Amino acid sequence: MEPSAQARSLLRPVDEKGAHLVSKCWVKIMGLRWKVNWFILMGLVLCGVLFYVVTSPMIMNGGRNLKWKPMGLAGDSGEHSYSVWPAFSTESFLDSTFFKQRCAPDINYTMTNLVLVKKQWSTAEDVRCRRLYEKFVSIYTFEARNAPLKLPPKFMSKLKHWLGDSDELLKQAYNQEVIHVVSEYTREHTIFNSLRDKRPVLPPAESEEEYFQNLLAETAKDCDFCNYKQNTAEHVFGRLESKHSFTASNAFKLDTLHALVAPKKHDPLHWTLEEFLDLFDLVGTWLQKAHSFYPKARFPSLIWDVLPKCGASQVHPHLHVMLDPKRYHGQVEAWREGASDYFTDHGSNYFTDMVDIYSALNLTVTHGSAVAFPNLVPKRDHEVIVISRDADKDFYKLLFLVLRAFIDSFNVKCFSMGLALPALDAMEGKIPAYARIITRGYVTDIRTDMSSFELFMAASVNIDPYKTVQTIRQFITKTRLET
Ligand SMILES: *[C@@H]1O[C@H](CO)[C@@H](O)[C@H](O)[C@H]1NC(C)=O
Ligand SMILES: *[C@@H]1O[C@H](CO)[C@@H](O)[C@H](O)[C@H]1NC(C)=O
Ligand SMILES: [Zn+2]
Repeated sequence: MEPSAQARSLLRPVDEKGAHLVSKCWVKIMGLRWKVNWFILMGLVLCGVLFYVVTSPMIMNGGRNLKWKPMGLAGDSGEHSYSVWPAFSTESFLDSTFFKQRCAPDINYTMTNLVLVKKQWSTAEDVRCRRLYEKFVSIYTFEARNAPLKLPPKFMSKLKHWLGDSDELLKQAYNQEVIHVVSEYTREHTIFNSLRDKRPVLPPAESEEEYFQNLLAETAKDCDFCNYKQNTAEHVFGRLESKHSFTASNAFKLDTLHALVAPKKHDPLHWTLEEFLDLFDLVGTWLQKAHSFYPKARFPSLIWDVLPKCGASQVHPHLHVMLDPKRYHGQVEAWREGASDYFTDHGSNYFTDMVDIYSALNLTVTHGSAVAFPNLVPKRDHEVIVISRDADKDFYKLLFLVLRAFIDSFNVKCFSMGLALPALDAMEGKIPAYARIITRGYVTDIRTDMSSFELFMAASVNIDPYKTVQTIRQFITKTRLET
């Protein structure tokens, strides 16, 4: 059919010159378009090849099964679950008197002498000694290494001076003994050099007490946490308060459930048992509340750094509390995973067996159902671990005693603590209540005590755990708990 006159007029070029221009442009565009198309085609082919390379293992495995599953998470459905271990218990521990008589007699127990203890222990005939020895060597690799050196005369006199001008210590300096301890399940590695602990301790250049009092007065004037109602954020489910403590949401959150739990008092070093228990009571209440709003969130971990030297952003004391639906956070998950591997290998509770070893070695103090001991693989000076089956009163009372011993007996002004509590409403992955506390040197010393050595290699620690436990024992003996 012929197009109508109107249609024909629409089809006809309006102006010959314009039409010429249009067709010229058209050719150019088509030339360009061809190149563009070519590039798009090549891009698509490349994407296809890449997609195939990345996904083909999954396709071969039936699509649903990842070739590399996340470690530690049993099962490959969306819901993961941890293994279930026997509950933590301190009932059948080897008594330290028995151990000293039957497993490794005639030795004065010190960190350095543990090498001798281990040697005797390995040949003990008693079956209980042998069973515990097997657990010990499976968890810890314990080795003394000789580190001799040569000294040019000038440097020798300098070194002697560092060693308090002691001939005896200088003699030891020529043939140092270094002890390496490796925790085979958590892969932690600590090196002790007892000579460093024997150096005379130089007092800090600036008085720690003066520094602390000034810092306290200065920061109290304008403290956000002292005026928490106006100056801190809240969780969507609201703020919790108790007699001595309050909760806030961290303003710059690291997780959905990331709370700050803090005492109302500004002073980070002086608190009573009542205030301390009130603080951790509120932690428990907050965790329950958060869990009721987010039922899947079950794995609680806490940290507490005291004073700027330790990395605290505010002088006002505050705990960071996290409740995670999938796993414990970071390092805590590494401890749990180590315990899980241990259960797979030995069928028993890692924490029970570890404390059994420390108890036999006369390194534990107990309070009711809770037990504390200086770690043989510490991250920093004095590290003490506190364990209890549940986050109960005994656990927090012993934690209080250990912290107070640090502050009052060791005269420590800055410490850091990491703490994990049993999973809420879950049997699996139920680690005991578990706290690790380290001290961080002089609060006035601006040199950081954390270097690439600690971050990427092994921790270098000088203080003998036997010294630590003795001071804590003395403190506990002279302290009467008020409640
Ligand atoms: C355990 O160590 C304490 C010192 O902290 C000491 O008084 C006690 O005699 C030791 N016990 C044994 C059985 O060696
Ligand atoms: C243990 O130490 C004490 C006091 O320092 C000493 O008298 C004793 O001989 C030592 N025992 C051993 C077996 O080294
Ligand atoms: Zn304050």
